[in-house]
Amino acid sequence: MDHWPFRNLVLRTPRLELRPDDDEGLVELADVTLDGIHPPDWMPFGVEWTDAPRDKLGINTFQHYWRVRASLTPERWTLNFLVRLDGRVIGTQGLGADDFPILREVTSGSWLGLRYQGQGIGTEMRAAVLMFAFDHLGAVAARSSAFNDNAASHGVSRRLGYRPDGTFRQVRRGVAAEQTRLVVTPETFRRPDWALTVNGVTPCLPLLTGREPTD
Ligand SMILES: CC(C)(COP(=O)(O)OP(=O)(O)OC[C@H]1O[C@@H](n2cnc3c(N)ncnc32)[C@H](O)[C@@H]1OP(=O)(O)O)[C@@H](O)C(=O)NCCC(=O)NCCS
Repeated sequence: MDHWPFRNLVLRTPRLELRPDDDEGLVELADVTLDGIHPPDWMPFGVEWTDAPRDKLGINTFQHYWRVRASLTPERWTLNFLVRLDGRVIGTQGLGADDFPILREVTSGSWLGLRYQGQGIGTEMRAAVLMFAFDHLGAVAARSSAFNDNAASHGVSRRLGYRPDGTFRQVRRGVAAEQTRLVVTPETFRRPDWALTVNGVTPCLPLLTGREPTD
């Protein structure tokens, strides 16, 4: 009996390895947060977690990822994949769902340490979780959103075939800002020219989809 099969789940792309978060990896991820994720005068996140004092970023990282990991059910889950390049954690790619057994839709969110941005890595890791969701979980849509001034996030979405799906406003650092919702389906997904390798998914499926594997 594998009590926590996510320990053995791994997605591999040409450059990257993505595994659900574990405590060893979170030590490295917390270090990446200290090196910076965005310029200090700009906020890409709807939850302004990077504005916490520097000496709190590490413990906040642990406690947030533990809470998310601990509350996973088929009705509401997020897998926070740690993204490794040459064996080192460089960022995270989240994939989540509410009521997946009925809706079959996923959402995603991600970030990379500043020094790893702008090299196509964000596109590669989002493509990985889209292929995982569409080809292994049977998702019928993947949703995302980003502030309108987040060119890199919108760049990733555009490249992978997402379409705009409305807007919403929210307060960012005390000022109104607009986000655009985005959606991609298996039909509109612009697949990369490489194949994703997935290991260890079968025992994870009932925990994410609510169904036993069919084969
Ligand atoms: C968003 C993020 C994950 C994207 O990853 P990335 O590796 O930097 O992006 P990529 O290099 O794959 O670029 C994707 C596309 O956006 C474009 N792009 C990237 N950075 C850009 C910038 N600063 N301005 C304009 N376009 C940009 C690229 O040219 C590319 O488009 P193309 O494929 O048509 O050439 C990363 O930039 C990041 O962590 N940003 C800070 C945190 C964040 O914004 N998270 C998302 C919150 S919604």
